[in-house]
Amino acid sequence: MTKSFYITTPIYYPSGKLHIGSAYTTIACDVLARYKRMMNYDVFYLTGLDEHGQKIQQKAEEAGITPQAYVDGMAVGVKELWQLLDISYDKFIRTTDDYHEKVVAQVFERLLAQDDIYSGEYSGWYSVSDEEFFTESQLAEVYRDENGKVVGGVAPSGHEVEWVSEESYFLRLSKYQDRLVEFFKSQPDFITPDGRLNEMLKNFIEPGLEDLAVSRTTFTWGVPVPSNPKHVVYVWIDALLNYVTALGYDQEQHGNFDKFWNGTVFHMVGKDILRFHSIYWPILLMMLDVKLPERLIAHGWFVMKDGKMSKSKGNVIYPEMLVERFGLDPLRYYLMRSLPVGSDGTFTPEDYVARINYELANDLGNLLNRTVAMINKYFGGQVPAYVENVTAFDADLAKVVEENIAEYHKQMNAVDYPRALEAVWNIISRTNKYIDETAPWVLAKEDGDKEQLAAVMAHLAASLRVVAHLIQPFMMNTSNAIMEQLGLDLDFDLENLTLAGFPENVTVVAKGTPIFPRLDMDEEIAYIQSQMTAGKPQEKEWIPEEVELKSEKDEIKFEDFDKVEIRVAEVKEVERVEGSDKLLRFRLDAGDGEDRQILSGIAKFYPNEQELVGKKLQIVANLKPRKMMKKYVSQGMILSAEHGDQLTVLTVDPSVPNGSIIG
Ligand code: ME8
Ligand code: MG
Repeated sequence: MTKSFYITTPIYYPSGKLHIGSAYTTIACDVLARYKRMMNYDVFYLTGLDEHGQKIQQKAEEAGITPQAYVDGMAVGVKELWQLLDISYDKFIRTTDDYHEKVVAQVFERLLAQDDIYSGEYSGWYSVSDEEFFTESQLAEVYRDENGKVVGGVAPSGHEVEWVSEESYFLRLSKYQDRLVEFFKSQPDFITPDGRLNEMLKNFIEPGLEDLAVSRTTFTWGVPVPSNPKHVVYVWIDALLNYVTALGYDQEQHGNFDKFWNGTVFHMVGKDILRFHSIYWPILLMMLDVKLPERLIAHGWFVMKDGKMSKSKGNVIYPEMLVERFGLDPLRYYLMRSLPVGSDGTFTPEDYVARINYELANDLGNLLNRTVAMINKYFGGQVPAYVENVTAFDADLAKVVEENIAEYHKQMNAVDYPRALEAVWNIISRTNKYIDETAPWVLAKEDGDKEQLAAVMAHLAASLRVVAHLIQPFMMNTSNAIMEQLGLDLDFDLENLTLAGFPENVTVVAKGTPIFPRLDMDEEIAYIQSQMTAGKPQEKEWIPEEVELKSEKDEIKFEDFDKVEIRVAEVKEVERVEGSDKLLRFRLDAGDGEDRQILSGIAKFYPNEQELVGKKLQIVANLKPRKMMKKYVSQGMILSAEHGDQLTVLTVDPSVPNGSIIG
């Protein structure tokens, strides 16, 4: 029977372009999903977007579009990013999906009916950026007026809070406190890393759980409470439910729910949202009488040398830039290798480039290159059969490989990627050392030892095959490239991986190409730094097209547009208008019998205006004629596009006849 494995990322707020922080979690889940698939689990990998709430409504307002148009545009950008990062998700949920909204409303009403939700009055501090409520004592900083009264403050995330006082529904967390404590005690390894569970107990549960406000009335972008639609469901209740609605919970088609929720359920989140996932989420599930998840991984943050990433500091790193410059695998490798479990990690350009050069190009890339070159040189490309214990060094190599395969699996199951990769690099280093020890170039001499030389080549190829398997969940391209250069098919058997498993009658490629380029450290560090400073094009938000094309004008009906007649017109003559430095006077053939005159204020963009003669332009032909400069009648308007501080008239292909209608 295949074991099922359900893995989820947080659903991110599409309130701006995603940076390497969200990329980190999504890649981390992707690695686990790929690993489990290779270990023959039936995997369902879920990611998506948290699209409701006050923050999104505000962002949409700033952009001048509806929240739906805003999130639709952002969803396109996010999916493109996951495609670029080769994320193998099985489903992408958006909380604006119909089935999801329906279940959220249903659940809310059910909890109301069973008295786990009740109505009341909320007043307290709210951070819109975090979409989180705080008591005064939970704030990282409070602002007071001259009388000592608290008038504002800052959430632990560093975001400002505002005073909120409104009618609200509450979730009866207090009633479930004992059951939650019991659950924590019965499943002490529920939260990884260790220690965080106790932190939750100490800081939030033991002092007494307060009931949570779970509806808002001061904005509308959310799921309305069916029985009282001036309330929308608090965005976190809406969001957490994604983990079950995505599988079909409470819907007609709930096959995936039965299958995957009853198997292993694995949530991965950043430590910033641990409270929601370790307290509110289990309690919600208890209220719904649904099994609790098996594990919750709370990883630390990627920070920059000068602290948290923020646009105002100009230290934000976007994944696209790194992929464009260095390729995908170094990014996946770097992120997974450098963030220690349970603490924060610092992203530095120096580190990034150094890891590519030393660990990828040197350690791994060279090993492959040398191996392929030697097998070609000494054995005409034919990999000799793997035989154990021929040279004095074979046994130790085999032992190190075996131990580190075991260590790798152990760390993968602990979701400790830095240590899992360390185990792989132990194999790589040991194999590089093995080349020095066995000195194949000596064995290849006339008085050398052909049998030993064959064993060395077989061990090198076998070790690289092992490495290719182990890195497959992290670096698919590199792993495939190694297999291809070794002459192996891309069928991986991670469960039964051994050195001796190297197949017979394999021929390596005639000439291996380097899998990682060597980088000029200074140049590349400077490049990344230059991209981190504010205002670079990579920082451009994924604003939906509607926004970029945002019209300053009101919407019009098609009939209104249809009143405008746009035609192709050929420039017969053009001259500057005396007394004006702006105007050009055109004589054009718009195919309607007689030439027409149009004055257009584009002189400064065409210092050499005669270049326009003979061009076919687009003109508005039915504009009411108007008199300009007292003596000229302008019979239409020439269309042009403004870009930056430039302007270009819109031309059409010379083959289009004058007078053709554009529409
Ligand atoms: O909290 N380092 O969404 P969010 C590592 N919508 N990970 C980081 C990071 C960093 N510097 N910055 C962000 C929300 N993350 C809610 C979640 S789930 C039902 C609802 C990652 O867009 C990390 O996984 O603020 C963190 O938990 C998540 O992004 C927060 O994403
Ligand atoms: Mg957040």
